[in-house]
This record gives sequence, C-alpha cells and structure tokens, in this order.
Amino acid sequence: MTKVENMFTDGGAYERAVGRWSRLVGDAFIDWLDAPKGLSWLDVGCGNGAFTAQIVSRCAPSAVSGLDPSKAQIEFALQQPDLKRAQFQVGHAEALPFERGSFDVAVMALVISFVPDAAAAVAEMARVVKPGGMIAAYMWDFPNNAAPAGPISSAMSAMDMKMPRPPHPDLASTSALSSIWQAAGLESVETCAIKIKLEFRDFDDFWESSNLPVGPTGMVIQSMSEVDRTLLKERLRDALTVMPDGRIVYDAVANAVKGLVP
Ligand SMILES: C[S@@+](CC[C@H](N)C(=O)[O-])C[C@H]1O[C@@H](n2cnc3c(N)ncnc32)[C@H](O)[C@@H]1O
Repeated sequence: MTKVENMFTDGGAYERAVGRWSRLVGDAFIDWLDAPKGLSWLDVGCGNGAFTAQIVSRCAPSAVSGLDPSKAQIEFALQQPDLKRAQFQVGHAEALPFERGSFDVAVMALVISFVPDAAAAVAEMARVVKPGGMIAAYMWDFPNNAAPAGPISSAMSAMDMKMPRPPHPDLASTSALSSIWQAAGLESVETCAIKIKLEFRDFDDFWESSNLPVGPTGMVIQSMSEVDRTLLKERLRDALTVMPDGRIVYDAVANAVKGLVP
C-alpha cells in the first residue's frame, strides 16, 4: 500500500490532476470564511502550495506558513514565484512545530481524509491558533462519491475493481467534520457544501489527468495491468457525457467546516 505522503510527491502532476480543481473550491472556501485582511495563516498539508497561493492572492495575509510531510511537494512550493513571501517546512499535522497561539487562522485544504489522526491534527491546529482565531478545512465529498474522481470510482466499482479511496473518506461528510470540530472544543462551528464544475478539454484530457501518478486514483490506475487500464478507459469513454464541442463537464462537491478557538 502506498504511504499517504508518497501519493503526493509530484507537484507538477498534482497541479494538473487536482490543483486546478482544488483552486476552484479554494476560492469559494475563502469567500465563505470571510476572514479579515492582514491575518497570519497556517496552511496544514499545503502540498505544492496550491491553496497557499490563494491565501496570498486573496487574503492579504500579514504572514503565511505552509507545512507538509512531502519534501518533494515543499520543494515545488518553494520554487513558486508567487509564494516567495510564504514560509514552508516539512512536518506533520499531528505535531505542528509552532508555539501556542502563533497564528490567527489555520486551514487544511483537501487534507483531513489523508491524515492518520484527524482529531490530533485539529487539536494541534487549535493549539497553534490564538483565542478567537479560526480553524477551517474542506475535503471532497467522498461519502457521496462526489470527488473529481467520482466517475472513475463508479466505473471501477461496476467492474468489480477496488475503488481508489483515501484512508479516511468518511471524515469528509459535513456531519463528521462538524463532530470533529466540536470534539476539539471549537466554537461557532459551521459547515457548508461547495459545488464546482470540472471541465476537461476532451476525453483525452480527462484520461491523461486521471492517469497521473498522484493521489489514490492515479496510484491505483498506474498499478493496473495494461488490459484492465484499457477496459477502464473504454468504460469511462462510454459512461461520460461528451458536450457537442468535445468537452467533458461534470460537478464535484467539497464539504467545508469552520470554527473559532475559545
Ligand atoms: C490532496 S493533497 C492537498 C494539498 C493542498 N492542500 C491542496 O489543497 O492542493 C493532500 C495533502 O495532505 C498531505 N498530508 C498527508 N498526511 C499528512 C499529515 N499527517 N500532516 C499534514 N499533511 C499531510 C499530503 O502530503 C498532501 O500534500
């Protein structure tokens, strides 16, 4: 079994497979957080810095730190010209290398279903954020098969293949997120569902993006035999609706949660 941090090591592949969709959710998530400008932010599980860049461009932060277990992803983030002001380091959500009350806001963008111990991660975020500060997260709606890889999961399931899932898909429902936030003692906990539209240029764009060696879906497809991969490809070609101009378009949903440190 691929270790979680080893599923996300190629920052360029991540951008095409996930980053472009993550960014659409990230924009809506930032609108929903409605945080004032000039705050200090921590981006836990920042990966290649896709969401960190949105914090920089949208939130006018006084400071931003990003942390991720993948050294390769952190190196990718460090090379991004628009992230020069951000601080990045390798580390785990469950043991944040920061003093108590170091930040105004801590976020996890598409991370909670991958973290081995989500309760410990949220407790750590609550420790490093000041009283009155905000802890927030969003994750693809795996419980309702509404992640970007939803059509692939459905096709694999119909073919009796093992569906690619993150280690803790059930934590991504709004009720599970709300429970974790409340159990961590956070106040004014709210959740919302964010729907986005995925648009691929054509079937090949969809298939090539799905084949990249990143995340649970890409890793499973990469490990298939050539025969199974071709069967899956043809099944998806039949199942997906193609627009008159050749595009493949469908919706995905991410569930979000926010709460305040008492
Ligand atoms: C789907 S990616 C999301 C990356 C980025 N936040 C984004 O929005 O594009 C999931 C990330 O969680 C990270 N991750 C996995 N386990 C973690 C842990 N214990 N602590 C912090 N991050 C972790 C992975 O390395 C990966 O970068």
